[in-house]
Amino acid sequence: MKHLLSTRDVDREQALRLLDTALEFSEVAARSVPKLPTLRGVTMVNLFLEDSTRTRLSFEAAAKRLSADVMTFQAQGSSVSKGESLQDTAQTVEAMGADIMVVRHSTVGAARDLAHSGAVATPVINAGDGVNEHPTQALLDAATLRSTFWDSPRARDLSGLRVVIVGDIAHSRVARSNVSLLTTLGAEVTVAGPAGLMPEDVSSWPATAITDFDDALGTDPDAVMMLRVQKERMAPGNPGELDDYIEGFCLTEERADRLPADSVVMHPGPMNRGVEIASAVADSDRSVVLDQVRNGVSVRMAVLYEVWGDRS
Ligand code: CP
Repeated sequence: MKHLLSTRDVDREQALRLLDTALEFSEVAARSVPKLPTLRGVTMVNLFLEDSTRTRLSFEAAAKRLSADVMTFQAQGSSVSKGESLQDTAQTVEAMGADIMVVRHSTVGAARDLAHSGAVATPVINAGDGVNEHPTQALLDAATLRSTFWDSPRARDLSGLRVVIVGDIAHSRVARSNVSLLTTLGAEVTVAGPAGLMPEDVSSWPATAITDFDDALGTDPDAVMMLRVQKERMAPGNPGELDDYIEGFCLTEERADRLPADSVVMHPGPMNRGVEIASAVADSDRSVVLDQVRNGVSVRMAVLYEVWGDRS
């Protein structure tokens, strides 16, 4: 795997190999000195042209645990404000010694276009491109499900696991990457959201699409993945719509109480508490939100290790 651009490019064997490698790397975190020499002398650059807390810091932590050097670029305060393109920016940081580029951008296909442009020779990892894909988020979600259900025979490879993804499906790169990766791994995926927040092409997705959250909860899911309502990607709307959203799609304590006893609640973050998820649920024993964050570091270590090993 020279680049990681989309979960649609990852087959089942590659996905399980990445998850196995991530599991091995997760043991490094427990050491008194959580560091391996694997990427000593390699420089990773975080090229983030969209805001991030988890993904950017997690890639930085992953690179440092593998002894790589890290350059961090943030659009704010950079020459992007003078109109410099992603391609010119990437060539500039490559000329300064970047060996691996982690790219977040608001444009769909930005990371893929850069990887295939010939402008840079480095591996490119997509850290989120608009509403399209967020492949390392899907991998860390799969790693979290795997570790949560490790003792269940059907869950070590995630085949047969029932996952419901809920909310603003239309604007969610997390939903797109998860549907693709989870179904590659054999999970049964349902996407649930209001009709107005469903993508037009949802009927072609390898998932069941429904517009009633309570019906989705009736499928006895092993995991419910709540999505952030992405107000920044929506046209300004009627404030009443938010009240309707909360009524129909917030994971309240009452709804969480209807879940099977061992099912878990996920959220990629950042959370809008009280909108898509009640605080009491986000902080409950069912919540694996911080496990997702923890697994993000080891999954990104595995991705960096894989792309660096496969560079040509
Ligand atoms: N889940 C996620 O992508 O979070 P950030 O936007 O904080 O990176």
